[in-house]
Formats: sequence, C-alpha cells, structure tokens
Amino acid sequence: MAQDNAIASGVVDMLKEDHTKVKELFEQFESAQGRERGQIAATAIQELEIHAALEEKLIYPAIREEIDEDDLMNEAVEEHHVVHLLIRELKKLKASDPTFQAKFMVLSELVKHHIEEEEGNVLPKAEESDIDWQSLEEMVLKRREALMSKASSGGRSARSSSNRRSKSKK
Ligand SMILES: [Fe+2]
Ligand SMILES: [Fe+2]
Repeated sequence: MAQDNAIASGVVDMLKEDHTKVKELFEQFESAQGRERGQIAATAIQELEIHAALEEKLIYPAIREEIDEDDLMNEAVEEHHVVHLLIRELKKLKASDPTFQAKFMVLSELVKHHIEEEEGNVLPKAEESDIDWQSLEEMVLKRREALMSKASSGGRSARSSSNRRSKSKK
C-alpha cells in the first residue's frame, strides 16, 4: 500500500527510464539518415527486447496477480506480441530496404501508444497494489543484467540457434 510506494518506484522508475530512452531513439531515427538509421533502429530493438522480456516474464505476472484488470493486461500482452512480430520482420530487412522505414515507424507508433497505456493506466494501478516490490526489483535487476550481457555477446544468433536445438530435441 502507500508505505510501499518508495520501493515501488525502483521498478517503476526503471521502466519509465527505458520508455524515455526508446522514445528518444525513435526521435533520433526520424532525423537521421542512411546508415545511422540502421544503427539507431538496432539499438532501439535491443532495448525493446530486453524491456519486453522483463515485463513479460517478471513484471506483468506480478502485476496481474495483484490487480484485477485482465482486459488491460491482455491488451498489453497483445501489443507486445505485435511489437515482436514487427521486430522479427525488421531483423530480416536491411535498413536501406524501402519497407524498413515504414515498418519501423509503425513499430514506433505502436510502442508510443503502449507506453502511454502503461504509464497512464497499468503502472499507477500497480503502484497502488500489494506487489512485493523489493523481491520483484531484485529479480528484475538480476534478469536485466543477464539479458544485457547475452545481448552484448551476440545474443541474437545464440538465441535462435538454442531455439532450434531445443526444438530438435523433441
Ligand atoms: Fe514498458
Ligand atoms: Fe510493455
């Protein structure tokens, strides 16, 4: 409840910082040219993937358990789903491809809408709930570190090859 708000702000602040960062990258993309656009897009995609993984695996489940807002949370998950679809398609394209920019702009619009929904609706409700923020924050920080080191060591190809491996085992 209210006395937990100071602890809630750790996780919530981190999410909002990520949101600000990715919105800045979207802005930079719009004013950049050529090669630079590809680099900005790649950074934004990496940020989004880490952020989405933390929300999907740890933060959304914790929120879902404490607030009675299934429709709101289902919608957020569907928006993540579309973000992942767009990212998957963007990764197959060169930044110079004519459809890359269009797809990236659609991603940007969707993510900005999603952020408004989270900051305006989901997070304020979560902050008023009885989530165990301290243990959530510990888990989030640990997972974030692991995801970041995976990403910086070329996590993309490692991830897809491990997916293939686990499928072929079955
Ligand atoms: Fe978010
Ligand atoms: Fe989200």
